[in-house]
Amino acid sequence: METAEIRRRFLEHFDRNGHTVVPSAPLISPDPSVLFVIAGMVPFIPYLTGQQAAPWPRATSVQKCIRTGDIEEVGKTTRHGTFFQMNGNFSFGDYFKEGAITYAWDLITRSQDDGGYGFDPAKIWVTVYQDDDEAAALWRKVAEIPDERIQRRGLKDNYWHTHQPGPGGPCSEIYVDRGPQYGPDGGPVADEDRFLEIWNLVFMQEEITDVKSQEEFRVVGELPAKNIDTGMGMERVAYLLQGVENMYEIDQVFPVIQRAAELSGKRYGANHEDDVRMRVVGDHVRSSLMLIGDGITPSNEGRGYVLRRLLRRSVRAMRLLGVDARSLPELLPVSRDAMGAAYPEVKSDFSRISGIAYAEEDTFRKTLQTGTQIFDLAAGQTKKTGEVTLAGDTAFKLHDTYGFPIDLTLEMAAEQGLAVDEAGFRQLMAEQRDRAKADARAKKIGHADTSAYRELREPGPTPFTGYQELNTDTRVRGLLRDGATVPAAQEGDTVELVLDRTPFYAESGGQDSDAGRITGDGTELEVLDVQRPIKGLIVHKVRVLKGELVSGQDVLARVDPEWRLGACQAHSGTHVVHAALREVLGPQALQSGSYNKPGYLRLDFAWGQALGRETRSEVEEAANLGIRRDLPVSATYMPLERAREIGALALFGETYDEEVRVVEMGGEWSRELCGGTHVARSAQIGLVTLVGEGSVGAGSRRVEAYVGIEGFRYLARERTLVSQLSDLLNVQPDQLPERVARLLGQVREAEKKVNQLRASALGAQAAELAGGALDVHGVAFVAHQAAAGGTADELRTLALDVRARLGNERPAVVAVAAEGGNGRPVVVIATNDEARRRGLKAGELVRAAAQTLGGGGGGKDDVAQGGGSDPSKIADALGRIEHVVGENVTHGS
Ligand code: ALA
Repeated sequence: METAEIRRRFLEHFDRNGHTVVPSAPLISPDPSVLFVIAGMVPFIPYLTGQQAAPWPRATSVQKCIRTGDIEEVGKTTRHGTFFQMNGNFSFGDYFKEGAITYAWDLITRSQDDGGYGFDPAKIWVTVYQDDDEAAALWRKVAEIPDERIQRRGLKDNYWHTHQPGPGGPCSEIYVDRGPQYGPDGGPVADEDRFLEIWNLVFMQEEITDVKSQEEFRVVGELPAKNIDTGMGMERVAYLLQGVENMYEIDQVFPVIQRAAELSGKRYGANHEDDVRMRVVGDHVRSSLMLIGDGITPSNEGRGYVLRRLLRRSVRAMRLLGVDARSLPELLPVSRDAMGAAYPEVKSDFSRISGIAYAEEDTFRKTLQTGTQIFDLAAGQTKKTGEVTLAGDTAFKLHDTYGFPIDLTLEMAAEQGLAVDEAGFRQLMAEQRDRAKADARAKKIGHADTSAYRELREPGPTPFTGYQELNTDTRVRGLLRDGATVPAAQEGDTVELVLDRTPFYAESGGQDSDAGRITGDGTELEVLDVQRPIKGLIVHKVRVLKGELVSGQDVLARVDPEWRLGACQAHSGTHVVHAALREVLGPQALQSGSYNKPGYLRLDFAWGQALGRETRSEVEEAANLGIRRDLPVSATYMPLERAREIGALALFGETYDEEVRVVEMGGEWSRELCGGTHVARSAQIGLVTLVGEGSVGAGSRRVEAYVGIEGFRYLARERTLVSQLSDLLNVQPDQLPERVARLLGQVREAEKKVNQLRASALGAQAAELAGGALDVHGVAFVAHQAAAGGTADELRTLALDVRARLGNERPAVVAVAAEGGNGRPVVVIATNDEARRRGLKAGELVRAAAQTLGGGGGGKDDVAQGGGSDPSKIADALGRIEHVVGENVTHGS
């Protein structure tokens, strides 16, 4: 049964049983402290905890998930995938254990002809939480499973939570017996390879906190309702129903493996190590496709780093399979075709997705190249000193600085007959991991803060009054210092402040937070920052300028009107620039991020190449025409569905509530989901002046602009600059370009002349040097110390010139050295054919010289370059070369 069919049957089964089918949320976790959605229930957490009323009593979904904790296991086992799909059914205070067990049992055991999955009931085993007699009794009653196939397990296996504070509960898992050829009898407690878990039914009923591990956490209390959260592993069911051996061989993944096999000329199934590599490729290429599809781009931290790692591991696995050419252009389209049926967006968006992936492969290939050079150098030095083991810190540096994986280092070292000090490498890695752990611990302390925030949110979220007014009478709900509540703060203190309601806008949606004052009864506070650290709670960072601040005090919160006007101009200006970009470039120029504050905005958008000067002017003109049309600006609340229908633009990968705010400017000219503050009519923005445009990663550009009076000031500065230049060059402003072009032409001419003079001086010097060549055991030998400050290129030109003048009649070696511009010595050696035939190789001679100079070097036999650290040794080094030439020269035949 194809994966698409498994998915269809799942959703249909629960749809028929009164569940609302909810589309998958993006892979990006809605909780900022977690990177990815790791289970089907994640988008429903607010409904499970009762924080928000669930819009439906029952729901079902096929949720995209990513787990990367076991990335090293991928390919080695039958069931570790980074990307997977979780089929789930959810009850929010509706049915409980009996319903969950009945629906699950029906779907898995109903015959395939009758719309089910057709598993043999005699092969099904289940587990329940140790004291959950109720669930065990239900399995007997509903499914007639005999006692010996119902096993009990503890917290470790049969209690489920997300490892974050939130909902949790005992669970019951469903296993399929794959048969004696896969392991010993005795059910899941004996062997989880033979007995494969396919479905987990969680009886969500508790709120937990202080989660230290799977088994260590504190139960805060009962959830407001008893809920059901289930998760069926789609990939696992697929591999059982498709009669293959593991999740990498299912229809959504295997085509990529087949392509990898073709490209490498290796057969899948012939060799375990190669199989693992191909499975890594199959898994990682798919995960990357889905991650980029959800708006993630490779970077060095967070989600972007996970993506980078997946892409690089895939490229590396292909390399280890013997494929050196670019591989993603061959593999990614195959993955797209395999996933496109379930996720049409990976097809329609493929040019963007592939652009990002291919660019990352190219970057990594360059990294590999640089790393290879460093490796070669280190390997050469190791061998020269007679060692057979590459130092651990070299391997670590390659890994850490050049992103060079250890297995690649091992392999390349082996090719050169070298071992690697793996113990040393692992020691350094462990030290680095400890540092990272200490960092994480430090962050956790910050984590404890959220419990204080949660307490302050208990009475409800903070109402935001700032759309209607700038001054609000309100009350201090609580004060926090270092994450803990405090009763009062004194003059000079900086604390966090929660109000009953507030007109201060918290930084979000790209808009910076409001500035202003809060006053009351002899107290005056300056607002430094406003954030929403947890959903619904607005927190002001304030400094007490005067008086004392106490919890419960009545205050007047006053947003600085000048600041707010600037903020509204900048945010509306951002919408105008977005609309203008799409007007000029087309609808694909979609915003992917933005930031704005009074006087300034920047906006990132999907676009592959630089905007030319003309295009930039067009965008600027379209934006300012939009401002001049004095379009009315409106904000309306509506259901998310409706907003999508009317084409409101949403930020990529962002999750939105059911009810959203849509900001329009001139109707559909600009229509965006947005919580920001805006001007009432576009003319109030005043002016938008684009000041920069550049790349922010593959397929993404950034424009920056000044807004309102800042836009005017920018233009005024430019005008002053132009008039200064025009005074300086004594021409009218419109003649400036021509005048500067002429001056540049003259400078270039002059430079050319200087170079010619230099070259002829060098030529003369070369002739003189060639004329003064020594005879060292029959070798024409020239050693020359050039004036300090010369470049390696100049030395090379000189050495080659002298060598040419010495001809090929007799062996010739030319060595020139100088103290370079950076104060470090450089040496270049050239040898002619005859010298090389007589055993004199430039590369070897340079190494000898560089040793004297306290450095290293290398190159080809005919010309090589080296350097060092001690310029006072140049003469010694030249002497050393002469000596080595004399010693090494063989007699001609
Ligand atoms: N949330 C449960 C899981 O992920 C169903 O296993």
